Amino acid sequence: MILVVDFGGQYNQLIARRVRNLNVYCEVVPYNKALKSIDEKKPQGIIFTGGPNSVYEEKAPQIEKEIFERNIPILGLCYGMQIMAHTLGGEVKPAKQREFGKTILNIKDSLIFNGIPNENYVWMSHVDRVEKLPEGFETIANTDNCPIAAMQNREKKLYALQFHPEVNHSQFGNEMLKNFITEVCKVEQNWNMSNYAKMAIEEVKNKVGDGKVLLALSGGVDSSVTAALLSKAVGSKLTCIFVDHGLMRKNEGDEVEAAFKNSGMNFIRVDAEDRFLNKLKGVTDPEAKRKAIGEEFIRVFEDEGRKIKSVDFLAQGTIYPDIIESGLGDAAVIKSHHNVGGLPEVVDFKDLVEPLKMLFKDEVRNLGRELGLPDYLVDRQPFPGPGLGIRVIGEVTKDKLDILRDADYIFREELEKAGLGKEINQYFAVLTNNRTVGVMGDFRTYDYTLALRAVKTTDFMTADWARIPYEILDKVSNRIVNEVNNINRIVYDITSKPPATIEWE
Ligand code: XMP
Repeated sequence: MILVVDFGGQYNQLIARRVRNLNVYCEVVPYNKALKSIDEKKPQGIIFTGGPNSVYEEKAPQIEKEIFERNIPILGLCYGMQIMAHTLGGEVKPAKQREFGKTILNIKDSLIFNGIPNENYVWMSHVDRVEKLPEGFETIANTDNCPIAAMQNREKKLYALQFHPEVNHSQFGNEMLKNFITEVCKVEQNWNMSNYAKMAIEEVKNKVGDGKVLLALSGGVDSSVTAALLSKAVGSKLTCIFVDHGLMRKNEGDEVEAAFKNSGMNFIRVDAEDRFLNKLKGVTDPEAKRKAIGEEFIRVFEDEGRKIKSVDFLAQGTIYPDIIESGLGDAAVIKSHHNVGGLPEVVDFKDLVEPLKMLFKDEVRNLGRELGLPDYLVDRQPFPGPGLGIRVIGEVTKDKLDILRDADYIFREELEKAGLGKEINQYFAVLTNNRTVGVMGDFRTYDYTLALRAVKTTDFMTADWARIPYEILDKVSNRIVNEVNNINRIVYDITSKPPATIEWE
């Protein structure tokens, strides 16, 4: 195992992803818990991430010198290099000029550069730099602006790079990380999803014993994979409550049911469409709608949960980014926003089961495949907890939902047929509350305007609108106005996020 010590750098998750992509398990810990975690977890190697501070600032993250006395190989990156130098008696100073962007690196012979040609590109982003090496270190690379761009203490297995090998712009960055892991730390690259699945199933079995587990299944990727894993681990001791709020996309409820109905667990589908539509009557404000849906979700879940006597564990599909983003919480972070709203309060349980909490999203998808879930569940796009309730603008009614479901289905079907399904990260239709005049045959129509939304994004925090070819938009538009009643106009949303958000509400 490799331990990634986080100094607050923007690439902390990326480093962990790179290590895992090399089939080596790793975890991220905050710098102030580094020593404790190292002694507990006994990693075979440690990576210090970058960070926004200067080592000599009063509040800059520091680390204990003892970390260097554990005889575990360490790789420091950017701030990680500076803190290594600073802690071990070297000197760090602001450079005259900030160095940012792709830079040519000249390298010397070192294990970390095995197989890498001299003069390769790396990604630099720093103000400070190491001016004087700590004792026992030697310089192993330089750039025009940075005489000590990498250093090593071969005997103590300490290595440090001023640049960011984890970023794609670093030409041989992956090879450098691989060299550290395999050549320096001597870690075997044998971590994979099949091993993880076996291990996670055993862990859940041990934790749950004879207890009963309850899971709120939304049909999203995380809760579906949690359900599949738990059902393999505890079978009939698991009850999944699938609250069908009537705000799902076309066929979605049946797909979820088909995937889980015969899997050995207790699967309860609650048809709560009427309850939700009742709560949404007359509600037009987006936040009020979100709140109404979230609260009703909890109420329905509680009503069903109460029928199951003595639940011991509540399962959640919390994933690793949730934990990292919540500041690598001191205690188990309970994701209050997991499915739709908060956690139910009335259902008593002893403990939480969160089998995905060490996995990244694409690892969750791989685990789902490993556990035999169908592609349509595993590859599902993010779908907001409040469902189509926030894609029908204005008051939500059954009629409007049905119109939207049919139109949305056609849009998604055409994009998938055109082979764009994988490269566009999220795409859906929105039923606006706007009606306009049209002409159909010889008749006047006065019907809804439908908006199409499709975005490319990696993190969903920012997004660019997808440049869908006109011919495809044309086909989608024709099909929708011909096949779906009550829509006579279609527009394509060409705003990015920011300033717009991905969803309309
Ligand atoms: P926005 O609209 O904020 O959405 O740009 C960013 C991403 O989050 C999804 N989203 C939600 N997911 N519960 C969720 O689980 C929600 O309430 C929710 N609202 C938005 C949205 O689909 C997009 O992928």
